Amino acid sequence: MARIPPDVIDRVRDSADILDVVNQYVDLKRRGRNYFGLCPFHQEKTPSFSVAPDKGIYHCFGCGAGGNAINFIMEHEKLSFVESVKSLGERYGIEVNFEEGTGSSEFFSGMYEIHEKAADLFHGILFSERGSAALSYLKERGLSEDSIKLFRVGFAPESDNVLLNTCRGVYSDEVLEKSGLFNKGQTGFFDRFRSRIMFPISNPSGKVIAFGGRIFSSNDPAKYLNSPETPLYKKSDTLYGMDKTKSEIRDNRHAILVEGYTDLLQIYQSGIKNVVAVSGTALTQNHVNQLGKFTKKVSVVYDGDEAGIRAAVRAGYILLRGTVEPAMVSVPADTDPDDWVRNNGPEPLTAAIENAKPLLKFHLESVSMDAMSSAERSELIRDILREISGIKDPVIRDDFLKSLASSAGLDDVEVIRMFKSQSKRKRSSEPETGPEPDLFTTVEARAQAEIVRILASQDSRFLEQYSSKVDTEYFTDPLLKKIIGFILDKKDELTIPEILGRLEEKEEREKVSALFMEDYDLSDSEQALMECIKSLKTQKLKDRIKAARLALRDLEAAGGDGSEQVNEIASLQKELEAIE
Ligand code: CTP
Ligand code: MN
Repeated sequence: MARIPPDVIDRVRDSADILDVVNQYVDLKRRGRNYFGLCPFHQEKTPSFSVAPDKGIYHCFGCGAGGNAINFIMEHEKLSFVESVKSLGERYGIEVNFEEGTGSSEFFSGMYEIHEKAADLFHGILFSERGSAALSYLKERGLSEDSIKLFRVGFAPESDNVLLNTCRGVYSDEVLEKSGLFNKGQTGFFDRFRSRIMFPISNPSGKVIAFGGRIFSSNDPAKYLNSPETPLYKKSDTLYGMDKTKSEIRDNRHAILVEGYTDLLQIYQSGIKNVVAVSGTALTQNHVNQLGKFTKKVSVVYDGDEAGIRAAVRAGYILLRGTVEPAMVSVPADTDPDDWVRNNGPEPLTAAIENAKPLLKFHLESVSMDAMSSAERSELIRDILREISGIKDPVIRDDFLKSLASSAGLDDVEVIRMFKSQSKRKRSSEPETGPEPDLFTTVEARAQAEIVRILASQDSRFLEQYSSKVDTEYFTDPLLKKIIGFILDKKDELTIPEILGRLEEKEEREKVSALFMEDYDLSDSEQALMECIKSLKTQKLKDRIKAARLALRDLEAAGGDGSEQVNEIASLQKELEAIE
């Protein structure tokens, strides 16, 4: 990834006020030193999400999410680390530039740049002589020049390697190859996209990472050709249009999900802007997790043909499993949302969205359950129960089971029994992972945690005086050992957000944010620190004595000479007495 100089990251982290950052997205109320609100990372009715402005961190006591201001932006906005630092830099007026140099940062900036260049090139061609036929076609389809420009739609002509010719010699072969924009033949690279209308696909922060290309005046049988998966582009993670529509989605607490690029453009142009598209793949749990950060309600507006309805039902269950409510919209038979809005304006769509059906009703109607034989019905119910078994939220699941019972004319209890016997069968074949062990619960780990908390909260004078008394040797918990290592290495004050910033694993950050979020008393840090060190030292000595005793016993049992162990035990015991 592109590298931001570490001192710039430090400045951004230090300037970002966690309260100000979180306040943009969460309603916070003050309670004592901390602030509380409804967690944006999981669904809840009573606030368990808290922000500690004095410590510079957030933590949710419900779902365990936690970290510093940069982590919050990463999680909430689904941005990369680099993008989050840039976004915070903008908010706090810190210029974030990239370091030249290292191979991998060059590679990634090349990858982004080549996509940016390609988008510009194709867009320019669409508005030139060579693109005029494609441009008129798009206009005939009802797309305005404004929309075409906003979404940077472009055109890749048939002959010539237009893109290759502008990129050869500018980017490394590695970039050319991994960008997915070229194919490789016997004579070398050539343009992948030819005679296609090009839709740039962006990541949530608006950078072009891939393209979707629709055939235009050529007899290539593939109507759509998309970029392959690349280091920048993962189909199952990417929602088309999200970069432009995420704020509308959040403000409306509602997203409209469509299948195609043209559906999205047409709907957006008609003034309905809270829309996203899956493109070139079925909806995935990753897509839903992303959407779920912005809204808990998604209207599914897929094509009105059989394939569209089937795909919509599948998408509905995936949304439900991600605790997002699917509202299923019926689109007239053999029409897609694009045609529908182009021919009738947005009103019929808006009305249909208002009259959207719950998933179960939509599903049962689509397969005309009423006309099924009892054997077919039984099969269908089992299929549905299987879909529901993935729903983690018990409230949503139980509601669904009850509606299933009533729609199928069955008894609630009977359906719940079927569900339980089915999920039991499932569980025995794929074991579930148990709950996470509690953090830092042993006496030893508590003492280590306490030392970390104290040292992370004191100024450099305190550290100068006491850090020499702490030894990483005493630390048995790997995570705490790592942190104490950071603190002792730095020899100067290390803030809590800085500590979190050095942890690369999300699980580690969550554990540590929980540790610091607990109420702890720093009124007598000096004494507490010495007590903790003492208890760790004694524990360590006791462990060694125990080990020596065991060795002695084994030796004596084997008829050996244990005098060395006896001496060792005696000297350890003396050491122990000296501390206690
Ligand atoms: N799609 C794709 N790859 C394919 C087929 C379809 O990526 N081989 C995606 C595209 O995002 C496309 C969407 O699925 O927009 C819907 O496909 P389809 O209904 O066939 O196309 P439309 O969007 O209706 O395209 P048009 O109206 O231009 O024919
Ligand atoms: Mn269409």
